[in-house]
Amino acid sequence: MKVLVLGGAGYIGSHVVKAMLASGHAVTVFDNLSSGLIGNLFPGADFISGDIRHADDVDAAFARGFDGCVHLAAYKAVGESMVAPEKYSVNNITGTLNMLNSACAHGCKNVVFSSSAAVFGSPEYVPIDEKHPTNPESYYGFTKLEIERFLAWYDRLKGIRFAALRYFNAAGYALDGSIDGLERNPQNLLPIVMEVAAGWRKELQIYGRDYDTRDGTCVRDYVHVSDLAQAHVNALEYVAKSGKSLTVNLGSEKGVTVTEMVEAARRVTGRPIPAAYVERRPGDASDLYATSAHARETIGWDPKYSDVDTLISSTWNVYQKYSAPGVKK
Ligand code: UFG
Repeated sequence: MKVLVLGGAGYIGSHVVKAMLASGHAVTVFDNLSSGLIGNLFPGADFISGDIRHADDVDAAFARGFDGCVHLAAYKAVGESMVAPEKYSVNNITGTLNMLNSACAHGCKNVVFSSSAAVFGSPEYVPIDEKHPTNPESYYGFTKLEIERFLAWYDRLKGIRFAALRYFNAAGYALDGSIDGLERNPQNLLPIVMEVAAGWRKELQIYGRDYDTRDGTCVRDYVHVSDLAQAHVNALEYVAKSGKSLTVNLGSEKGVTVTEMVEAARRVTGRPIPAAYVERRPGDASDLYATSAHARETIGWDPKYSDVDTLISSTWNVYQKYSAPGVKK
């Protein structure tokens, strides 16, 4: 298939491009490189420099003619979304409407959308399945849920077929080292742990040790980015072949605490990784993990790299190429 990957120079997007190419699809990346990296542009993919907020840019891209698209061009910082919601309205929501209108205008019927576990908010039960009520607690999560609803309406009214993929905690890097861009200003646990391991930060702050979990720290479901990437390929092929839309959770189904992750990182990297327990971070749910049974049954998704050691070692391999953030050895 001819596939347009919006946000294909980002962390997850670059892994999606790699997986699409490996499955024989012809890929064009659309990215404004605001957080995506030029070095993440995977060899073999075409590149269009464009901004999802500009309807003309998006329309010119879709005018090239695609069978499907993967939409990952969005802001994703939960904390920022609570203080600058307007940025998330314009980039995530208006940007998606530009994408949907152009996809329809140019006959691109198959859409894979990067949604998030953030649509659920604090879980009422775990593991979280697709029937779990949605009640986002951040504006970021709200934008993802609204986009899922737009997709359902465009399915009904315009014949779009979509797959909404609700990622849990994305982590890791391609095992062959072919993608090695580091996110600027990382916000997530594993990159921060790596920066401490590398000696770029003095210590990790662990947010809260009084949660009702086995060691008092928060439980999350970390899923390898290469496994996520494969889900996009499977999902695109599924919607194109079956003509059915779907919404699935993508998690490893294994809950890991923050302390367990840090201890594993000490073991895998051989570095001390100093850590201090501090106050809870507002808005953190204590226990969040998925069941991915629906993804298994529909798109045949079978995560292979989402064990803690592979998540950490594949990330550490990339960090070891750098002497400082953004500075390769
Ligand atoms: N954590 C720390 N110290 C840090 C960073 C994180 O203790 O310096 C803890 C957090 O409190 C949390 C866990 O590590 O318990 C994971 O935190 P992340 O910030 O890496 O990820 P979140 O679970 O908060 O958020 C992730 C994605 C969001 C998505 C959300 C959905 O980053 O995009 O899952 O549940 F919305």
